[in-house]
Amino acid sequence: MFSRTSRVVVASVAGLLCTTYFLIPGHASIVGPAGQQPFVLSEPQAAKRVAVIGAGAAGSSAAYYLNQYAKKHDIPINITIYERNNYIGGRTTTVDAYDDPEEPVELGGSIFVEVNRNMVEAAKLFELPIAGYDTGSTDGADQLGVWDGKELVVTISGGGIWQTIKLIWRYGLSPMRTQNLVKKTVGNFLKMYEAPVFPWKSLSTTAYELELLPATTNNGFQFLKSNNINPPFTTELIQASTRVNYASNLGHIHGLETMVAMSTDGAMAITGGNWRIFDKMVQTSKAGLHLETRVTKIERVANKHTWAVNALKSTSDGPDSQSFEDEYDEVIIATPWQFSNITSESIPAPEEIRYINLHVTLFASPYRLSPKYFNSDDDLVPDMILTTIPEGYDPHYRAVGPAKFWSVNILRTLERKLANGVKRREYLYKVFSPQLWTDEQIYEMMGLPKDTKNALSWSHRKLWQAYPAEEPRSAFQEAQLDFGVWYTAGMEAFISCMETMSLSGKNVAANIVEGWVSAHRSEEVKGQHDKSL
Ligand SMILES: Cc1cc2nc3c(=O)[nH]c(=O)nc-3n(C[C@H](O)[C@H](O)[C@H](O)COP(=O)(O)OP(=O)(O)OC[C@H]3O[C@@H](n4cnc5c(N)ncnc54)[C@H](O)[C@@H]3O)c2cc1C
Ligand SMILES: *[C@@H]1O[C@H](CO)[C@@H](O)[C@H](O)[C@H]1NC(C)=O
Ligand SMILES: *[C@@H]1O[C@H](CO)[C@@H](O)[C@H](O)[C@H]1NC(C)=O
Repeated sequence: MFSRTSRVVVASVAGLLCTTYFLIPGHASIVGPAGQQPFVLSEPQAAKRVAVIGAGAAGSSAAYYLNQYAKKHDIPINITIYERNNYIGGRTTTVDAYDDPEEPVELGGSIFVEVNRNMVEAAKLFELPIAGYDTGSTDGADQLGVWDGKELVVTISGGGIWQTIKLIWRYGLSPMRTQNLVKKTVGNFLKMYEAPVFPWKSLSTTAYELELLPATTNNGFQFLKSNNINPPFTTELIQASTRVNYASNLGHIHGLETMVAMSTDGAMAITGGNWRIFDKMVQTSKAGLHLETRVTKIERVANKHTWAVNALKSTSDGPDSQSFEDEYDEVIIATPWQFSNITSESIPAPEEIRYINLHVTLFASPYRLSPKYFNSDDDLVPDMILTTIPEGYDPHYRAVGPAKFWSVNILRTLERKLANGVKRREYLYKVFSPQLWTDEQIYEMMGLPKDTKNALSWSHRKLWQAYPAEEPRSAFQEAQLDFGVWYTAGMEAFISCMETMSLSGKNVAANIVEGWVSAHRSEEVKGQHDKSL
């Protein structure tokens, strides 16, 4: 008898399915065509004043590359970063398991991959230690299982995930076709790093020119089907990946983001936290940094090409107690506008899009998940459980389904120091779910009665507006909102991840410097005309 469950065993533990995010190593980006001498301003100028609102991936990168490009063209610059939180990194941040600074764990953006060029290059440049993304325990459990709320429909016990999947006969050629399609799509996307595409003015036009619209205008099912990739591979594995990466079923995520979710080679993370990249970028940019400072208002200054930025600095005596205003030549809004609480009468507000509420639950326990909970006959539940919806559901089904959560996995084992000096081996878990995942649900998953002692030694919960619901679309919010006002988050409806948000910040930086250079060039030309008159 054939069971629906495939079991494929390959020695050695390697790649993982659920990493997001790509890009390729290549040569340094440039402003203007390759090989051209940088244009250098001939006369001393007043420093260009730039405000960056938000110190996440996008804002930190904008400041960092702005400083680089300005230096290259000898343009004096004065950057100020405003950040509402008391830390750099935004949605890329860590918390400490057991409140022990030696046990940081990613609460938001966790993984990047080999082809994430900005991230990889910055990590090297700043000499930040890269940890291979090793997931799981050393207990010898299966590496990955896909749970549909009734049974584990696939389990994979190690080996390169791709090689392993190809051995599952009922997937036929779909895995290979997926791999090729990912390669092709990523290849088109990577052109966004190089002239003549970079820096781009219009994301919509660029998506069209790079032939990415067939991917963005179709949902995952449609896009895959048109490339001859079919169930059960799509429903069991690709959907498991879009659910862990974007909390979305294939009917509600576009084809490009589906490809991103399947682009998994060379997953890695920065030891101590990916935010360290953005922290270094901010330092290197030499920008002035206001932490715990919320921008409240941006208005055009009458009769000048400048903008007045109002901010409130929180102090220990109470929130929002100190307000101040500064004037800038350029303003970069590096956060989703709809959550920024910034008001403006002069800026046309960017498009509001639906973001996904994602509950992240981190916890530590000496117990493993219960095989009984997952209807499994095995002694051990796989270290990583992804989920899908059972067979027979409508392809437009949007919700999480009977599994109730998007993913749960063991991140690593921990040595918990007990009061008596004894160490206890525990597991560090992460759950993604659409609703709060309660202590009771954690106990239930481990098959423990509610009052079991010492079963839950640490936990931390966070509700994120994690990323947009990546519904199919053909047009995207453009980066320039007004003369001198820029927006990075339009990129998120295209691809939302640390790398692409960094690229979005870099693109804005390049556009700004290009604008300065060409304005100056035309002034010089005008000056020469005047002289010759
Ligand atoms: C749970 C989770 C898991 C993820 N996993 C991955 C992953 O594995 N790999 C990956 O690449 N990506 C992942 N992502 C996505 C990635 O984290 C984000 O795409 C990226 O960090 C967004 O960067 P950003 O700079 O655009 O926005 P944000 O990080 O949100 O930065 C915006 C900043 O602006 C600040 N701000 C907002 N309003 C104001 C104001 N009025 N004044 C001053 N400051 C303000 C905010 O405090 C914030 O710090 C994940 C996200 C989440 C939530
Ligand atoms: C940048 O501008 C601020 C005023 O907003 C000023 O205090 C600071 O000295 C300037 N920095 C440089 C390097 O010019
Ligand atoms: C933003 O405004 C909304 C209501 O308008 C409020 O609920 C929320 O707390 C505000 N957020 C911040 C960070 O000020």
